[in-house]
Amino acid sequence: MPSRLEVFDTADAMLDATAEAVVEIAVRRIAERGRFTLALAGGSTPRGLYQRLSGPWRARVDWSRVHVFWGDERMVPPGHPDSNYRMAREALLDHVPIPAAQIHRMAGEADPAAAEQEYAAALAAHLEPAPHSHASPGQPSHVTPAFDLVLLGLGDDGHTASLFPGKSAGQETNRLVVAEHVDAARGWRLTLTPPLLNAARHTVWLVAGAAKAPALAAVLEGPSAPDQYPAQRITGRDVRWMVDRAAARLLATSPQG
Ligand code: 6PG
Repeated sequence: MPSRLEVFDTADAMLDATAEAVVEIAVRRIAERGRFTLALAGGSTPRGLYQRLSGPWRARVDWSRVHVFWGDERMVPPGHPDSNYRMAREALLDHVPIPAAQIHRMAGEADPAAAEQEYAAALAAHLEPAPHSHASPGQPSHVTPAFDLVLLGLGDDGHTASLFPGKSAGQETNRLVVAEHVDAARGWRLTLTPPLLNAARHTVWLVAGAAKAPALAAVLEGPSAPDQYPAQRITGRDVRWMVDRAAARLLATSPQG
């Protein structure tokens, strides 16, 4: 699977390029299939991307064809300051005409086990199988639903989505979404798992800031240590790393430009 690293002078330039990449995939998939399925990243870096998508890039997408999911959620109510849904609603969803029935929120306010079951049902109901779904390492033997695009961020500790170092969610090979209590995150998380994340047609990472440099170098150029660096479990079909120069500063292979 191709994996491409693109380094940009600033976070703003990285976010501009990422917005362009997202829109290009959305436009192509809507032209091909009449719909675009997207799993949003949480945290803070994506806010700038979502503001671009609902701002200068807004008119480029037929939002009525977009189906939005989340890669993970903090188990808090949707209006909580820590909610990934709230961040996406403020930066994107309140500003683009996606039909409410196509916004598939993780129920952060619910009991974790119930939220896990509910989201597994939503994924099964609204995602199409990956083309040529078949059993392969890290993927379940049954047909795996596939997002058109998964957006991912990278934690300073090498986590992604809510796949955290030393926790079991990253090692999951059958369930597509799991709830797990994460001491390092001071609470329960709901997260998509590697089998589902890796079935996506396209994966775009967005990484910015000097604090990410050690984790990025370890994930991309260090030895294979997926329990310590769960981001290494993401081995998608088409992976693009959109990184600013500050986060890339420890890479031996970062393109000079
Ligand atoms: C979350 C995210 C998480 C995030 C990384 C990077 O719920 O926190 O899904 O995986 O992408 O922690 O976060 P920043 O972009 O805020 O650095």
